[in-house]
Amino acid sequence: MNQHVIRRSFDRAAASYDTAANLQRRVCQLLLDQLAEPAPARILDAGCGTGYALGLFGSRWPAAQLTALDFAPAMVAAAKAQASGVCANIEALPFAAASFDLYWSSLSFQWCDAARAVAEAARVLAPGGRLAVSSLASGTLAELHAAFSGVDSHRHVLEFSPPDTLAQACAAAGLINIRWIKQTLRFHYPILPALLRELKALGANQVGGSRRAGLMGRKTWQAVEQRYESRRETAGLPATYEAILCTASKPVS
Ligand SMILES: C[S@@+](CC[C@H](N)C(=O)[O-])C[C@H]1O[C@@H](n2cnc3c(N)ncnc32)[C@H](O)[C@@H]1O
Repeated sequence: MNQHVIRRSFDRAAASYDTAANLQRRVCQLLLDQLAEPAPARILDAGCGTGYALGLFGSRWPAAQLTALDFAPAMVAAAKAQASGVCANIEALPFAAASFDLYWSSLSFQWCDAARAVAEAARVLAPGGRLAVSSLASGTLAELHAAFSGVDSHRHVLEFSPPDTLAQACAAAGLINIRWIKQTLRFHYPILPALLRELKALGANQVGGSRRAGLMGRKTWQAVEQRYESRRETAGLPATYEAILCTASKPVS
């Protein structure tokens, strides 16, 4: 995956992101529910986007010191009102070892190398610190993948990792108390372009569909729409997301 292209998509989408981030808000709340007390003193939100999780931290742990990191400058600018903002890559964190008591990252790891990102998380966590990460696993947008498959030689939907990828990366990084669950979330859309527009508004057009759909011939596009239509339910066209919620901690010594 080309990180420059991904970064540019998210940078452009910072202004529209909040209008479309229903899945992202649901997953943040589900991930927060996985965390027990005590309150962490220093929290890093890695891949913060516009900073939705920072508001949740502020309500639950008002005394915590918040740092928001993202590689898209416009996302950092949006999150900055609620935390100190840092523009950097999750895979190479610009922090000293043991800088944080909670490492948080919601729905950003599907865009990067999870093993590298978790190794960095483990490095910047203080002994006894906790990690909470959500990502998307294989099966995500399966309907979109099926609708596009075979229409041309391009892969139209991002290849998502197996569900246990995060847990394995945590174990490899020496983290303990590793727990993970998979939550299947489904949303419905009146028409296929509504789903593609939402992905674009999120900056997630690299995830599937919308980028290449614009370049397709009319006949090919109609074939894609017809295939998706065959899955229509009473609520509309379904889109499935397989969210992984993973928590772990760094050994005290
Ligand atoms: C789907 S958004 C999630 C944002 C936020 N965590 C939320 O839940 O609303 C993914 C974010 O991760 C950021 N991101 C993706 N890969 C990254 C990387 N390698 N380093 C830093 N940020 C990254 C993107 O710029 C984007 O803001």
